[in-house]
Amino acid sequence: MNEAKAPQELFSLEGKTAIVTGARRGMGRTHALVLAKAGAKVTVSDISQEECQGVVDEIKEQGGEAIAVECDISEKSQVDNLISKTKEAFGSVDILVNNAGIADFKEFFSMTEEDWNRTININLKGYFLCSQAAAKVMKEQGGGNIVNIGSVAMGQVGIGFPNLVHYVSSKGGVAGMTEALAVDLAPHNIRVNTIAPGMIDTPMIDPVKSDEKAMEATTQQVPMKRVGEPIEISNAVLFLASEASSYMTGVVFPVDGGWLAV
Ligand SMILES: NC(=O)c1ccc[n+]([C@@H]2O[C@H](COP(=O)([O-])OP(=O)(O)OC[C@H]3O[C@@H](n4cnc5c(N)ncnc54)[C@H](O)[C@@H]3O)[C@@H](O)[C@H]2O)c1
Repeated sequence: MNEAKAPQELFSLEGKTAIVTGARRGMGRTHALVLAKAGAKVTVSDISQEECQGVVDEIKEQGGEAIAVECDISEKSQVDNLISKTKEAFGSVDILVNNAGIADFKEFFSMTEEDWNRTININLKGYFLCSQAAAKVMKEQGGGNIVNIGSVAMGQVGIGFPNLVHYVSSKGGVAGMTEALAVDLAPHNIRVNTIAPGMIDTPMIDPVKSDEKAMEATTQQVPMKRVGEPIEISNAVLFLASEASSYMTGVVFPVDGGWLAV
């Protein structure tokens, strides 16, 4: 353990299996590609089997191994199927990347109970369901690793996010879940950490991108004066999923071009 390892060994996921939710596009897709490049066998999961298969094909083209499993993370039976299909195909579940999410911009006074429930059911309950189902297998195996994608929009950070009460509440919940789960799962050799991305160039930010002034105002708040690329989050996922972060658990850390440093 005290011997320095070469990066290619330290970050290697050879022999590991990983599940990435919300992986048909956006940063979930790049998490899947990066984990596969590091040697993991990857289950690419999202609400569309066909689009997941497209990412599986990309992984295979780069020489990796992957399967596609359609799953709505807010439905327990589908989550159970995701975990068992992965175990069936690869024999273990070593890494879970809870990435799937929605950001449904809604003005507060017109936000309905359905709006609230949908966001919380996907962004928060979905993370609980996936973590619990995966951790059961990880506990049996003797260890595992859960990486959540939270957000700088999680509350208590000094930035306001208009029209996203349900989203910010869900991501604040993920931050809390990270600490609580890290404590519950440490005795089972399962680490739990969360990345809080700043603004990243994925289809999720299309509503902001379509408003040039809003986009300019947001990027100007970021010390690095640009949005992030999905791969810049995926590289942090690799760090948390690998031995390079072996003493880290229960942490929420921003990858945000310095946004929270202002
Ligand atoms: N893009 C950003 O600026 C940003 C910033 C902070 C955090 N995030 C978070 O990053 C994660 C990835 O988002 P993204 O930016 O790549 O956006 P994205 O919209 O491209 O990807 C989100 C994916 O989640 C999937 N998804 C939605 N509901 C689902 C469900 N019920 N079950 C399974 N999959 C479902 C979507 O189909 C989509 O492929 C999300 O958790 C998001 O909240 C994004």
